[in-house]
Amino acid sequence: MGPFAVDMLKDKVVLITGGATGLGRAMGEQCLALGAKLAITSRREEVLKQAADEMSSQGGEVFYSSCDVRHPDQVASLVNAVEKHYGHIDVLINNAAGNFISPTERLSPRAVDAVLGIVLHGTFYMSLELGKRWIEQGRRGTMLNIVTTYASTGSGYVVPSAAAKAGVLALTRSLAVEWAPHGIRQVAIAPGAFPTEGAWSRLSPTPELEQKMLARLPLGRVGTKEELGHLAAFLISDYASYINGEVITIDGGEWLRGAGQFNDLAEVTEEQWDILTELTKKGK
Ligand code: HXC
Ligand code: NAP
Repeated sequence: MGPFAVDMLKDKVVLITGGATGLGRAMGEQCLALGAKLAITSRREEVLKQAADEMSSQGGEVFYSSCDVRHPDQVASLVNAVEKHYGHIDVLINNAAGNFISPTERLSPRAVDAVLGIVLHGTFYMSLELGKRWIEQGRRGTMLNIVTTYASTGSGYVVPSAAAKAGVLALTRSLAVEWAPHGIRQVAIAPGAFPTEGAWSRLSPTPELEQKMLARLPLGRVGTKEELGHLAAFLISDYASYINGEVITIDGGEWLRGAGQFNDLAEVTEEQWDILTELTKKGK
């Protein structure tokens, strides 16, 4: 039993890129549970088919069609296929991404292009294709872009992703104003740590790296797919219809933990605090 009325997204047609795995799938499952009609896409047809079968077995309709969002012609064919199937599209969730950790000086131009192509160009092509159609059709719509907390702060060792996600955030805020007169709304979510096979295998590939990452989390835990799904469902629903151009962070306070200069003092023990208190009092 979730927090929302079961018809909150009734009959909304939601298209999710990267919708067969990880967070994309979690958002899709949430949309289905709230009455939406779902379309999912990604590169791997067999993964899409299996996900669509499993997801629709819980009830609701799941249409799938493969597409590499780096290719505008494939993006156009995808949107044609979804419109042909459902008649129209109400919501686009730009969730597909590529990422891996690497010292930047080790990257080849192809490695940079792989990530920028999926995240920045892919998101732009999807938004452009649908935006043009919605404007021409006089149809209102919502675009939800999945970014990251380091879209705002930047981050070493994932620099193509940081640059691309920052671009997506700029796209979100720019189109929020430009396309608002057409009734097209833009929102973004910046997730923190949500363990998925796709992200963990590329970003936390050893227990040591995972431990380091977990130790940074102020709430002492990672996020759950349900928590992310609920936020996404609210943001694409009519209840969020006056939210436009905002990015909502869902990271348990992780980025603020990194930002506050004195937050590492969380590691100081009670005994050490006794000494430190004496020393700082003397500083009066
Ligand atoms: C250095 C790498 C590399 C790595 C690939 N390359 N992986 N370089 N370190 N780990 C280089 C390759 O050598 C090649 O360059 C170039 O990148 C393209 O590689 P391909 O394998 O041909 O690319 P492609 O098949 O298009 O795959 C794209 C990909 C892959 C991004 C590299 O990882 C992918 O498909 N990812 C999709 C799913 C994903 O990444 N999910 C995680 C999202 S998580 P050369 O020059 O050798 O040819 C996320 C979370 C953020 O975004 C925040 C978390 C807290
Ligand atoms: P994931 O399961 O690896 O999701 C990435 C999806 O994108 C996959 O389904 C993949 O499917 C698809 N994809 C990749 N390249 C594509 C392309 N060229 N065309 C179409 N689809 C493509 O990882 P995830 O953790 O769920 O990530 C989902 C989103 O959340 C991403 O935007 C990510 O940046 C963001 N995020 C995740 C975390 C986290 O902790 N997990 C944190 C911050 C942000 P195919 O390989 O079949 O194409």
